[in-house]
This record gives sequence, C-alpha cells and structure tokens, in this order.
Amino acid sequence: MKIIKAYRIIFCTAVILTGLVLCSGMGRFYKDKGKAGQMDINKEAFGKADGKEVSLYTLTNKNGMQVKITNYGGIVVSIIVPDRNGEMADVALGYDSVEGYVAVTPYFGAIIGRYGNRIGNAKFTLEGKEYTLAKNDGPNNLHGGVKGFDKVIWNAKPVKEKDTVGLILTYLSKDGEEGFPGNLDVKVVYTLTNKNELKIENTATTDKTTIVNLTHHSYFNLKGHGNGDITDHVLVLNADNFTPTDNTAIPTGEIASVKGTPMDFTKPTVIGERIDDDYEQLKFAGGYDHNWVINRKGKGLQYMAKVSEPGTGRAIEVYSTAPGVQFYSGNFLDGTITGKDGKVYNKRFGLCLEPQNYPDTPNKPNFPQCTLKPGETYKHDIVYKFTVEK
Ligand code: GLA
Repeated sequence: MKIIKAYRIIFCTAVILTGLVLCSGMGRFYKDKGKAGQMDINKEAFGKADGKEVSLYTLTNKNGMQVKITNYGGIVVSIIVPDRNGEMADVALGYDSVEGYVAVTPYFGAIIGRYGNRIGNAKFTLEGKEYTLAKNDGPNNLHGGVKGFDKVIWNAKPVKEKDTVGLILTYLSKDGEEGFPGNLDVKVVYTLTNKNELKIENTATTDKTTIVNLTHHSYFNLKGHGNGDITDHVLVLNADNFTPTDNTAIPTGEIASVKGTPMDFTKPTVIGERIDDDYEQLKFAGGYDHNWVINRKGKGLQYMAKVSEPGTGRAIEVYSTAPGVQFYSGNFLDGTITGKDGKVYNKRFGLCLEPQNYPDTPNKPNFPQCTLKPGETYKHDIVYKFTVEK
C-alpha cells in the first residue's frame, strides 16, 4: 500500500510539474506574440523641471509605431515610424532628457500657446482695453511669450481605449499670465491610432474675453532626426494664398496668391528647389517661415499638407480645423544644438507644419479672429498621419 501511495505521489508531482513547465512556456509564447502587436502606454521618469519630477509617456500602437510625450510643455519627444521596407526611425527632433528642453529649445515638439506665432509690437486691444505682452522676438511677441505653454508642467493622464492609446494634458493658465487676460482652462489630448495617426485635440475655456491660438511645433525629418537637412523633402500645401510679412515676420494684412512665386506648393515640389531664390519673402525669413491660407471646404478637419521623403518613402499628411498652416523650414537651426543620440541639428535639419490661425490676428481685423469669450469653447483638432509611399 505504502509503495503504491509513494508512486502515486511521485506520478502526481510529475504531472503537476510538467503542467507548470508547459503552462509557463505557453504563457511566454503568448506574451511575446502579444507584445509585437499590442497597444500600450508606459510611464518613466524624464528628469526635473522647475524643481519637479516630470515624466515621459511612451505610446505604442499595433504596428509598433511609437510616440513619446513628456508632460513638460506637452512636448512630443520622439516619433518612431517605419519606412517603405519596415525600417523604423525617429523622425522628430528633440532631446534625450527634460534638462535639454529647459536649457534651450526652438520649441521642439511643444504645445504652443496662448498664441501660436507672432503678435506685432507685442500689443493688442480687446474690448477697448490694450494688453502689452513680452517682446521675445525682436519687437514682437512669439509663441505665447517668455514662459509659454511649451515651458510649463501639464497634468497628465494616460488613456487606453479599444483602438487607441492617448495622453490627456490639462493646464490652468492664470488670468494675466504672460500678459493675457482671463483664467484659461486648457486641455490637449494626444491620441495614437492604429492607422498611424497622431491626433491632437486642443480645447480651452475662459472666464474673461481673451485670445487663443494653439498649435503643435514638432520638427520633422523623415530620413530620421539628425540625418541631413529637409531640402530634399517634397511638399504639398493645399493653399492658393499665403500671408506675406514684413521683415520681422508680421503679416502685412494682405492675402496674396502663390501663383508664379516660390510659395506655390499646390503641386508636389522639392522644398530646396526655390528656397534660396531671390524673392523678398524668402530673404526676410531666410527660407520658408510663413502662414499659408488653407483652401477650406466647410469647417471640419481639412487636408492641409503632405510632406514626403523619396529616399525612405516616409510621408506625413496633415489635417486640421484651423484656417492656416505655418510652414517653417528650420532656417534658424545652426548646429549649436546637439539633440537626441548626440545628433547635431544644422540649418534646415527639421521642418514644422503648424496648423493655426494666422499670425497677428488681433491686429488684423480682416483676418479670421481668435477671440474667446466666457461660455464659449475654443476647439482645434490636428491630425498628423504617417504613411509610406512606394
Ligand atoms: C515658428 C516661427 C519661426 C521660429 C520658430 C521657432 O515656426 O514662425 O519664425 O520662431 O517658430 O524657432
């Protein structure tokens, strides 16, 4: 009897152990398989800004596309996408840690506010009252002032839905902050979809009449950040008109046709083809740095631009609900910044496509206005869709 019992115990233990080994193996198998195509959002430390710890959130979609976002400035730190052979590269300029952004940044990947682009002479009048802002770009106010939305710490909440992963960022900009009126409650929602789209939904409400013009400032290089300049990229802008500027980048108020000028990107055109032409608007800006007036059909999301890089086949389509897009060809990059992976960012190593209202609208009554009153909600949706071409 005793011997039979002992055999039974040995047999059962063997069965259980074999079962355990098999299960753990299967488990690993499923886990590994799942990993390749699983949507995910991870959080890690990214350093300190304003004496506070900030985080880096990694959003991954089913195709392995990854977008890294920090709650400092709501900055998109990297965008990793495939080329036509499935080769992944990081196509956004930026830094390896938050300290880089705190030290010096030409607004790499940031949320821009309260007012994207420039306000002439750093002044505007609203409901009869004059507001004076910081002159942080020659005589003008640029991108919300000295400490704009790109330099503040946002509250962050990761979200995972059935087909998307995202990050909800919120920030209360106090009445008078950087000279703007009204307590402005701002929400920016980043969403990564399985169609390789990065969606950015901007909303804001105020308790006093104010102005709002939020945008996104990623610098793209579809060859991979740090891999040469963007003059070989091909651009389409869905715009028959643009807003010419004075020599301080403030629009003159004129809406001018692009026809017959180097500003015409209505058909796919290599960016470098005419960038150094003897054309006053290009001379003023040292290249492209202008607002194009989008050919709109109605009020919704409108196709605005497409940029592609023939070598890798990588491309981005840009959609937004705004009336304009600022195309900036990275003219001020000059090799003084060393970014991620020790890469040096020389002149025109990145380009920005910033959907937004036109610059200086509060001082240009003929432009679409961006006044926000209590009880109203400011809304601006942007979509960057990453694709590949054969
Ligand atoms: C915007 C402006 C440019 C420049 C960059 C940041 O795109 O239009 O003139 O200031 O931001 O360097």
